[in-house]
Amino acid sequence: MTAAQVDEVERSPYLGGNYAPIDTELTASDLPVVGTLPDDLAGTFVRNGANPKLPPKGRYHWFDGDGMIHAVELGGGCATYRNRYVRTEGLTAELEAGRPLWTGLLERPDFRNPGGPYKDTGNTDLVWFGGELLALWWLSGKARVIRLPELATVGEETFGGTLPRCISAHPKVDPRTGELIFFDYQPVPPYLTYGVISPSGRVVHHVAIDLPGPRFQHDIAITPRYTILFDFSLQWDEAELARGRSKLVFRRDRPTRFGVIPRFGSGDEVRWFEASPCFMYHTINAWEEGDEIVLIGCKTLNPLAADPTNPPARRAAPVLGHLRLEPVFHRWRLDLRTGGTKEETLDDVSTEFPRMDNRALGTKSRWSYHGRFEGSESMLFDACVKYDAESGSSKAHVYPKGWYGGETVFAPRIGSRAEDDGYLVTFVANEASGESELYVIDAQNVDHEPVARVRIPQRVPTGYHTWWVSADDLAAQRP
Ligand SMILES: [Fe+2]
Repeated sequence: MTAAQVDEVERSPYLGGNYAPIDTELTASDLPVVGTLPDDLAGTFVRNGANPKLPPKGRYHWFDGDGMIHAVELGGGCATYRNRYVRTEGLTAELEAGRPLWTGLLERPDFRNPGGPYKDTGNTDLVWFGGELLALWWLSGKARVIRLPELATVGEETFGGTLPRCISAHPKVDPRTGELIFFDYQPVPPYLTYGVISPSGRVVHHVAIDLPGPRFQHDIAITPRYTILFDFSLQWDEAELARGRSKLVFRRDRPTRFGVIPRFGSGDEVRWFEASPCFMYHTINAWEEGDEIVLIGCKTLNPLAADPTNPPARRAAPVLGHLRLEPVFHRWRLDLRTGGTKEETLDDVSTEFPRMDNRALGTKSRWSYHGRFEGSESMLFDACVKYDAESGSSKAHVYPKGWYGGETVFAPRIGSRAEDDGYLVTFVANEASGESELYVIDAQNVDHEPVARVRIPQRVPTGYHTWWVSADDLAAQRP
């Protein structure tokens, strides 16, 4: 490593502690289990995250690292662990060159780089769709096919050549129709596109959305008839972009807008609803209720870390690059009759990476499961909080002192039909010792001890998004 790289590794909170990357790719079976793995749970828990293979070129942002997937296969009382890099073209090129070829989010983007200004690492999201596991990136990227159980990156999913552009993280699988509803955003026009992929895996709808400028967004929400897109008050600074620099601004003087488009609507059918200025990484759910669309998510207040107009902080909040995260459980009601918006914060505890029982996605849901920030300067969850969207009340599964959890996926109990009837599954790691475990928690007794803790034979760095691939889904994996 160069001296500058050594400095950066020592300086960045996202290269130390449990964010520090690992370099081994393991397969380990018959893992020790504390408690008992439930008989009515069979499938594979998968989690994506950033794990830089090479030292950074310039300043490091948590979103920059190469994708690495960690998986635990559960069934018959046994657990098997694997971890593998997402083998992207960018990672291959850097390994061949023996040095990093891309700078990250905190540096000036190199628009002359033939591989694009940023490396598409596939490090962000995972979704099971059309009989295959897809690894997705947070910006405008490719959908990479990950073969289970080996976690081999076996190619790029172009949906039979019908995908006109790229796909961003957080597309939604409609559990009623089997369609994949997706979006794609980037800092050059068209800033946002929206589309629908049929259950048979073909893009059957794709439109450009007219935005007044480049917008930073991360997620969408769906109902049976509509999709909700975002135009947040957090925006790319266009003047800086024109100078080849990437900078975000938070326009407090400008409302956040929610764009409601019929599922197969054209770009000019978007209805925009205004709400108070904010940013939101992750939605939880949306549904139709009478004349209203109800949207719940983790609204981030005062998202720019260095904004002198920020009110005094309520508590320590994690800083991620230029952003400072103080997200709270929030509900908006969009009135389709009047065009008005009502909104309400349901709890003021900072939580993020919310998940729900995806079988209820797009219809009225009651329960969601969030990571709770413990007040440190990086993104560490000291508890999983289960929220009741009807009352705003919550219960928490607090991890042992010094142990921090990740996103908790909801895994339905075999044979269950009711929302919340299943398990919460997440990696939990000890920040000091690096010991890592997979927790299996009964969702209906979230504050009880885990029903099972699987000991993982290596440290699992803190990461991003998860998916539960049931044994039935896996049996139908495309060859
Ligand atoms: Fe995300």
